[in-house]
Amino acid sequence: PKAVTIPALNAMRAAGNPIVMLTCYDASFASLMDRCGVHILLIGDSLGMVCNGHQSTLPVTVAEVAYHTAAVARGSKSAMIVADLPFGAYATREAAFDNAVKLMQAGAHMVKLEGGAWLADTVKFLTERAVPVCAHLGLTPQSVHQLGGYKVQGKTLESAEQLKADALLLQQAGASLLVLEAIPAALGKETTDSLTMPTIGIGAGPDCSGQVLVMHDMLGVFPGRKARFVKNFMDGEVTTIEGAVTAYVNAVTDRSFPALEHCF
Ligand code: KIV
Ligand code: NA
Repeated sequence: PKAVTIPALNAMRAAGNPIVMLTCYDASFASLMDRCGVHILLIGDSLGMVCNGHQSTLPVTVAEVAYHTAAVARGSKSAMIVADLPFGAYATREAAFDNAVKLMQAGAHMVKLEGGAWLADTVKFLTERAVPVCAHLGLTPQSVHQLGGYKVQGKTLESAEQLKADALLLQQAGASLLVLEAIPAALGKETTDSLTMPTIGIGAGPDCSGQVLVMHDMLGVFPGRKARFVKNFMDGEVTTIEGAVTAYVNAVTDRSFPALEHCF
């Protein structure tokens, strides 16, 4: 298969072909996911929780994300590799660039950061310097202590309008992709329809340009509480990890996932 590029993702969005994304943290899973047709592998700062047992993503360092990014890059052939800039790694645009360089040199093709309008200047600074950016709005786990827990966002008219305005600013600043987490399905659709860049939903309804899940969640191995938007694909007839990842790829592709029960 051909390499997944930003133009390829834009073409998928334009053609209405769902984009399939999963988190991935090591070379063996990267190879498996790549083989199963996952388009984007995300080295999420969720690694702090699912790999290292932390209570939140806040303890994760750039060095840790870079370590896992290098492993994923060695294991995958054609998937796009997106790496999270962790908590505290992009407080200024210069810091964001220095840390993004570390992730790109480890093998990332794009970096992801959490937040709205305040990041527009940073996104412009990165993209002008050849660092593609994925934005992340809605429930942004690095802000858990400000949000007061892992709660659905964008439920009021005001916060929904704010999210859409932020998304547009980030797109104008040069973002190539937008993750939308834990927002009402209607807002996921409205936001997607108001943008030209592809959106990737996790608890953001079926009308985003693609979907993402944390691999430990979709394989049913994460011991923590299961969010509403999670589906365990390692069940029923499925007896192998390759089978579960293939079932996820197929369900996102035919839009049977997310179902109503996974949406807000
Ligand atoms: O860290 C992560 O896994 C993420 C996804 C949930 C989008 O940011
Ligand atoms: Na993340």
